[in-house]
Amino acid sequence: MKALILVGGFGTRLRPLTLSVPKPLVDFANKPMILHQIEALKAAGVTEVVLAINYQPEVMLNFLKDFEAKLGIKISCSQETEPLGTAGPLALARDKLIDESGEPFFVLNSDVISDYPLKEMIEFHKSHGGEASIMVTKVDEPSKYGVVVTEETTGQVEKFVEKPKLFVGNKINAGIYLLNPSVLDRIELRPTSIEKEIFPKIAAEKKLYAMVLPGFWMDIGQPRDYITGLRLYLESLRKKSSSKLAIGSNIVGNVIVDETAKIGEGCLIGPDVAIGPGCIVESGVRLSRCTVMRGVRIKKHACISSSIIGWHSTVGQWARVENMTILGEDVHVCDEIYSNGGVVLPHKEIKTNILKPEIVM
Ligand code: GDD
Ligand code: MG
Repeated sequence: MKALILVGGFGTRLRPLTLSVPKPLVDFANKPMILHQIEALKAAGVTEVVLAINYQPEVMLNFLKDFEAKLGIKISCSQETEPLGTAGPLALARDKLIDESGEPFFVLNSDVISDYPLKEMIEFHKSHGGEASIMVTKVDEPSKYGVVVTEETTGQVEKFVEKPKLFVGNKINAGIYLLNPSVLDRIELRPTSIEKEIFPKIAAEKKLYAMVLPGFWMDIGQPRDYITGLRLYLESLRKKSSSKLAIGSNIVGNVIVDETAKIGEGCLIGPDVAIGPGCIVESGVRLSRCTVMRGVRIKKHACISSSIIGWHSTVGQWARVENMTILGEDVHVCDEIYSNGGVVLPHKEIKTNILKPEIVM
C-alpha cells in the first residue's frame, strides 16, 4: 500500500523553529512530527511513502534516509516547481501512487497529530464501497478548518465546506484521507485545492464518506496548538503504553524523558513535558507544559512553563521562561532573566528581560 504526505508550506506559524528545519522535521514528543506519521503508516501496512514537497527536498531525504532502512519503508520525494495546493501534488505524483494492484492510498496533511487509526480507516473504506474516505473530528472552533456534514448513520458526506463563514456543523476534516486511484482522474496538474475543488464534487456524487476519528486530534502548526497537542498526545500515551512515561517523586502528571537526558536533584517536572535526547536539567528546576528539545541545558532553579525550548539552547539559573516563549535553535538565556512570551530567533543571547510577548531578532 502507498501513501502521500503533503509537506508544502514554509511553516511560518512555527517560526523560529522552522528557521532551522522544515516543519515536518520539528520535534514533537521527542520525535520529528513526520516520523509519527511514517511509523503509523508503516504499522497500517504501507510500504511506500511519497513526500509532496515544494522546497528543500534534500534536507528531508537526508534526514529520512536512516529511517527508511530502520523502518523498512520506501520514502521518496515528489517536488513541485510551483506550489500545487493540496490536490495538484497528487496529480504530479500520479505514477508513484498507482500500481497494478489498484489499491487505495493514504493522503495525510503533515501538521496533524493523532492516534492515526489507519487500520480502522481501511476497514471503513472497504465497508462503504465509495470512492474516497476522510477522517473527521469534532472541534469547538470549526471556522478555521474544512467542515463536513454527513448523513448520520452511513457517514456519507452531504457537504464539504472549507473555512466556512457561517456555521454549518462542528465536524471537521482531520486531514487524513484514503482515496481510490480513480480520484486521480478528477485532478488536473495545476494548483488545485482538494478541499474546495475535489471533495465537494465527490460528495455531490455521493461517493465521499467520513469516519469519525476515535481518540485525540490536533493541528500542531502553531505554538499554542502544539503545546495543547503535546498534552493530548501524552494523555493518550498513558492509556496505550504508560511504561513510556516517566515515573518518580519528582514527576507530576504525564512526562516523557529521553533515556539519554540527565535530571538533577530536587527538580519538579510536569505535567505535560517532553525532554529530548542529551538534555541536562540541573538541580531544583521546575518544568511544566513545555517541550525541551535535543541538547538543551537548563541551569539550576530555572522555571519554565507553557514554552518550547529549541535544540541546543541554554536557560540560565533562576531564569523564568513562560507564556508561549519559543526559543529557536541555540539560544542562550542569561541567569535570572524573565521571558514572558518571547519568540527568539536562533543563535541569540538574551541578556535583558522580555516583559511582554514579542519577537526578538
Ligand atoms: N506539497 C504541497 N504543496 N503541500 C501543501 C501545499 C502545496 O502547495 N499547500 C499546503 N500544503 C500542505 C501543508 O503543508 C499541510 O500539510 C496541508 O497541505 C494542509 O495545508 P495547511 O496550510 O496546513 O491547511 P489548513 O491547516 O489551513 O487546512 C487544512 O487542514 C485542516 C486540518 O488541520 C484543510 O485540509 C482543512 O480542511 C482541514 O480541516
Ligand atoms: Mg494545517
